[in-house]
Amino acid sequence: MIFVGLLFLFHASMSLQYHVPIASQHRDSVLSVRDGDGELHPNRIATVDDQSTDIHLGQHDAVSKARLGERCGPGKRKCESYLCCSPAGYCGMTAAHCMSPDCQLGYGTCDADKVPEGKSTKRIQRPHIGGVPYGEVIVTCKVPYTFAMTYDDGPNEFTRDLLDILDKYQAKATFFITGINSGKGQIDDFTRPWGSLIQRMHYSGHQIASHTWSHQDLTASRKLRKQQILKNEAALRNIIGGFPTYMRPPYSKCDEDCLRDMDQLGYHVISFNIDTADYINDDPDKIQLSKDIVDKALTSPSLDGRPYLAIGHDIHAQTVYNLTEHILQRVNDAGYRAVTVGECLEDPRDNWYRWDYRSA
Ligand SMILES: *[C@@H]1O[C@H](CO)[C@@H](O)[C@H](O)[C@H]1NC(C)=O
Ligand SMILES: [Zn+2]
Repeated sequence: MIFVGLLFLFHASMSLQYHVPIASQHRDSVLSVRDGDGELHPNRIATVDDQSTDIHLGQHDAVSKARLGERCGPGKRKCESYLCCSPAGYCGMTAAHCMSPDCQLGYGTCDADKVPEGKSTKRIQRPHIGGVPYGEVIVTCKVPYTFAMTYDDGPNEFTRDLLDILDKYQAKATFFITGINSGKGQIDDFTRPWGSLIQRMHYSGHQIASHTWSHQDLTASRKLRKQQILKNEAALRNIIGGFPTYMRPPYSKCDEDCLRDMDQLGYHVISFNIDTADYINDDPDKIQLSKDIVDKALTSPSLDGRPYLAIGHDIHAQTVYNLTEHILQRVNDAGYRAVTVGECLEDPRDNWYRWDYRSA
């Protein structure tokens, strides 16, 4: 089952809008490049043969990789291995060239290709502990009068202030963390603030969940989704000593094969039943629309304690500095509690993580 609805598509396109403009709609064509993997083999001269109408490639074109400033991408060359192929198809090494998810994978290097330090988590046992299902999409909470607010794509520059706001209301939330998106660097690079923010979330009683290493579309390939999950696990292990059993797929895209892999990797796949649409309303003149969505849900005449699982993004200023406080007040007014996803599903905290007890 592919769970891509209209809302999900909006989410996808708006998440991308946060980044540099992209060429990812052309990504499928990567597969149709000569030799399947886009590789032009050195020393091989392509010629027009009986079954081909290919253009005649000279030897020079066949052996060289694109250099700084040259074009790259589907139908063009790969960059030299130390360069990134930007979303617009130029080789370079600035953050804008290399930032994932939109840096062109396979046409040079990308932030996505970085690997966290320490042992891989792949050999850690993944028993299906607890009563919450694994490998199937969960859209709603269970415990009456709970409201699980979730924040995707961070941490980022506003996250510290968001944690202060949550503290002020003694509210708990769930953070679907992405390891290296949007040029922010690795979450486990402690010269940056992300690692200590994640520790603070953890020790404040919020829930840490995975939103993959670099926010790629997990339906692309099995290899990619395993790497995307395992690398984020290693990075989170480097920060809190373990990794989550809860995840949300980027762009809300996880087809049957992907769900099977999430099941095998021991993950609860979390969707939502309220989309705050904060990503399209990140403007003082528009954020009221997001507030209205939440207000409508919490004042429904047939409310009766119906639990909610809401999605937002801590990378947007209006979400952090305006929407969140509004939501927390409304949640209180409605007699609800702002809790983590684990709590709203009645899953004890011990089941939210798998600890890595191996020595480094
Ligand atoms: C917060 O949202 C309201 C609309 O609900 C808007 O009028 C106000 O300007 C926003 N405040 C800030 C500081 O952006
Ligand atoms: Zn996301």
